[in-house]
Amino acid sequence: MKVLSVASECAPIIKTGGLADVVGALPAALKPQGVEMRVLLPGYPKVMDRAGQAPAVARFDDLFGGPAELLQAEAGGVPLLVLRADHLFDRGHGIYLDESGQDWEDNPQRFAALSRAAALIARDGAGDWRPDIVHGHDWQAGFVPYYLHRMEVGVPSVMTIHNVAFPGPAAPEMLGELKLELDDYHPGGLEFWGQISALKAGLVWSDKITTVSPTYARELQTETFGMGFDGLIRARAADLQGILNGIDTDVWDPATDPEIATYKTAASKKKATRALRDEFGLPDSDGPLAVVVSRLTEQKGLDLVLEGLPDFLARGGQMVLLGSGQGDLERAWEVAGARHEGLAVRIGYDEGLSHRMMAGGHAVLVPSRFEPCGLTQLYGLRYGTIPVVARTGGLADTVIDANDAGLRAGVATGIVHDPGSAEAVAQALSRLADLYADRDVWAKMTRNAMRHPVGWDVSAAAYADLYRSLITA
Ligand code: ADP
Ligand code: GLC
Repeated sequence: MKVLSVASECAPIIKTGGLADVVGALPAALKPQGVEMRVLLPGYPKVMDRAGQAPAVARFDDLFGGPAELLQAEAGGVPLLVLRADHLFDRGHGIYLDESGQDWEDNPQRFAALSRAAALIARDGAGDWRPDIVHGHDWQAGFVPYYLHRMEVGVPSVMTIHNVAFPGPAAPEMLGELKLELDDYHPGGLEFWGQISALKAGLVWSDKITTVSPTYARELQTETFGMGFDGLIRARAADLQGILNGIDTDVWDPATDPEIATYKTAASKKKATRALRDEFGLPDSDGPLAVVVSRLTEQKGLDLVLEGLPDFLARGGQMVLLGSGQGDLERAWEVAGARHEGLAVRIGYDEGLSHRMMAGGHAVLVPSRFEPCGLTQLYGLRYGTIPVVARTGGLADTVIDANDAGLRAGVATGIVHDPGSAEAVAQALSRLADLYADRDVWAKMTRNAMRHPVGWDVSAAAYADLYRSLITA
């Protein structure tokens, strides 16, 4: 079975968040399931650096304002089809944002082009490769199911919601330019609050919808979490499935991680903790060292941590934050870092450091207001770094709270608190300090955490079953 995966980012080639990790991991995870997956990726400079010499397997004379071609390549172990369209993708700065931090003005055309190319591949093939199914990720691939439908291609499609907060808007005046029919511009179709929404196109016209955890699949159907799409998602509930993300357990393996003095058990974690304290100039302490690796945006709820921080530090706790994003949040954390001795803050993006932090931390904080799945709590489990998470989305599906029941049954792997409340986060930090102080309980929790399955096996099988159901339907 051949599946074309369509996405705007793919690790380890080009990444801004967890979407890239998932898109990059799926081809290898699905291979044992008999699924041959290729990823259609825009030819940004970073992608062309690695794949530019690959052979062209198809050409388009005019794809949204210029010529384009498809290169069949492999990079970072991922089988790719690279959409080379220099008028859309050959530019510096961010893959979504321009030099002033605004969305590229032609983002609707850029990702409509990606989606159009996917539909053309499904219809005509790329060289001798033609997919049985097309699987699009988030709004950037939202028009794929729509184009497949309008071009009467007859290849089924799956749409995955990684984050419903990004509708992929475009002005209604762009209908023609984006090759969308005026007839389809209504509230049951492309229209979303007076604009075109690429995500909505994907949700209306795909054969199946998935999202990245069972809890988020339920939350999406509520007004609070659905962000305007809840009605549509409720109407399509029979076609919706929550399939939990996994992580790459080779890249995230405490026994072989090249970034750390490797360890196999929680007992030998000490070395990594000492190294991390040294790296950040933190003194030794009897209290827990909590880490945060995150985009700094409203979603992630990190502003809620600042309130309970002084009490946590006063009890001997320490904290290290690595993140970047919104200016106001970056500044708030920098100010806190300068004020508190037990807090070290690094604004930036650093993959290697993120590994050293997961290895050296005692706990990883993920206090998100909403979190479709989340990956860093999974890294934490794998490294015996106890996740302290909000009870939402994939966080609720992956961490077992150390409440009385969890402790008595001997199954607790973390601390779970109410989402969206600074008070709840403060309480969770206080519980963290208490649990850490009880060495037997703590040792048991870290053992449980490290045994918790975080790989792709179960979820890859679920995707393969879903694809099969579409082909035999
Ligand atoms: P999201 O995709 O919403 O940002 P996820 O938890 O799914 O959240 O994925 C985030 C990914 O990005 C993880 O692999 C995480 O380690 C990584 N990451 C986020 N911020 C940084 C950073 N500042 N430095 C290094 N890695 C980061
Ligand atoms: C999104 C979500 C995150 C999820 C990731 C990969 O970025 O915010 O929760 O883990 O996609 O699916």
